[in-house]
Amino acid sequence: MADKITLSSPDITQREIDAVVGVLETQWLSLGPKVREFEEAFEQRLGVKHAIACNSGTSGLHMIWHSMGIGPGDEVITTPFSFIASSNSPIFEGATPVFVDIDPVTWQIDADLVESAITPQTKAVLPVDVFGATPDMDRINAIAAKYHWRVVEDSCEALGTKYKGRPAGTLGEAGVFGFYPNKQITTGEGGMVVTDDDEIATTCRSIRNQGRDEDAGWLAHARLGFNYRLPDINCAMGIVQMERLDEIIDRTEEMFVTRRAMRRVTIPVYSLLDHRVFDASLKKNYAGLDVEDLPHNFFAVSASLTTNDLHVHRHGPTWEAVRASAAIPGVLPPFITRSGDVLVDGGIVDNLPIAVMRDLKSGPNIVVSLRRQDRWRVQGSYESLPTRRGVLRDLLLVRWRKPTYPSLANVIVRGMSITSGRRLEETVEGRDLFVVPAGTEGVGFLEWEKAREVADAAYRYMAELLDRAGSLEALLKAGTQAASPAELTGTVARAN
Ligand SMILES: Cc1ncc(COP(=O)(O)O)c(C=O)c1O
Repeated sequence: MADKITLSSPDITQREIDAVVGVLETQWLSLGPKVREFEEAFEQRLGVKHAIACNSGTSGLHMIWHSMGIGPGDEVITTPFSFIASSNSPIFEGATPVFVDIDPVTWQIDADLVESAITPQTKAVLPVDVFGATPDMDRINAIAAKYHWRVVEDSCEALGTKYKGRPAGTLGEAGVFGFYPNKQITTGEGGMVVTDDDEIATTCRSIRNQGRDEDAGWLAHARLGFNYRLPDINCAMGIVQMERLDEIIDRTEEMFVTRRAMRRVTIPVYSLLDHRVFDASLKKNYAGLDVEDLPHNFFAVSASLTTNDLHVHRHGPTWEAVRASAAIPGVLPPFITRSGDVLVDGGIVDNLPIAVMRDLKSGPNIVVSLRRQDRWRVQGSYESLPTRRGVLRDLLLVRWRKPTYPSLANVIVRGMSITSGRRLEETVEGRDLFVVPAGTEGVGFLEWEKAREVADAAYRYMAELLDRAGSLEALLKAGTQAASPAELTGTVARAN
């Protein structure tokens, strides 16, 4: 039987249900206050001047072309590797989409090919943020500025994405989001146009509502318009989803930082942490979401004490994949599957299993290591190790003495991290690049609140490396020479 592979699934809680019921009770089902409230949530989150809610991503795209006056005879350069609506949208206005190929590594429109598609009819470019990533928008904007084109960003798949620190959707003159149930947030159906341009915003507001101007009467139609309104019922749902956006995007942080499941320490007979609390928290946070439903390509690896092999979690409940691959011996008990297999953290020997990655995808890998750069160097004296009686006495007297010997958790975690670090360096090979970003301190034991900060710093470092190299291919090809500008003091090494 084929594996089930879904792009993503909606995440609806009682809060969304209550919000929808709340609107139904007011009887103000459309053109009510929830529309503006939903729009304001976007304006604030993205830092844009205008957000205009509409009933789909497709209608949002259509409204933008209409308000820009793109029409018969005009050409719009875009990517064929997208949902059909991006290419259809200029056709609604009589314009023609002109395709350029994608970058085979990023799957985004290849900015290097954009100029090869120019004709005297080219009036606009429509980059699409495919699968939540973004194309080289600086390059595309520079080309568009040179030829005086309009730039519309199709961000239907990219709410929450950032490009060099700026939110997707705000990188061109206007952007569009979609809220079909496979998107980062959903309103059932729905869309949002975002722009800093007053004229585009005013026209979109009018044409979504039959060409009415904002403060004119119900029967005054200033221009040709459509019915692209998003009902208050959907907006109410969207407001709650926007409030939950970070939680939806980043459940791991929620679990480790907010709920602090990791901090429930138990009597260390079998493990330091209480797995019941940990598991309950994981289940709640991943709320039935399967690995194949996650918005990004994810896999986890654990070591199976039953098969004596690595266990690669590519499908099934996400909470189980995270749980099994976090079962550090001595810290968190093994995860035991329904069929009785005993799984523990695969990181003991292979924390970033490149061999597994190679089985899953072809091409070179860029391995970014976030471990502490100041290698933990411990020294002690044999005499400082406590005796059994000494430990017991301290425990009974609840006496806290700063230990002069390494703690149990530190010994386990550091021991594993040294082994897996060594193994990682050995397995990076061939065309792979091994990058240790400068300034990332790594995340210590139970310091989960630092994870986001460290990941962001590493992301910025990688973005800069890529920028300097010009393209991903150039970075991979040139390796150390191209990618090690003096100011970026991390290490970039090609294996062998
Ligand atoms: C890239 C892209 N553009 C446009 C759309 C159209 O959005 P909608 O389905 O809300 O009309 C979608 C999604 O469905 C999409 O993924």
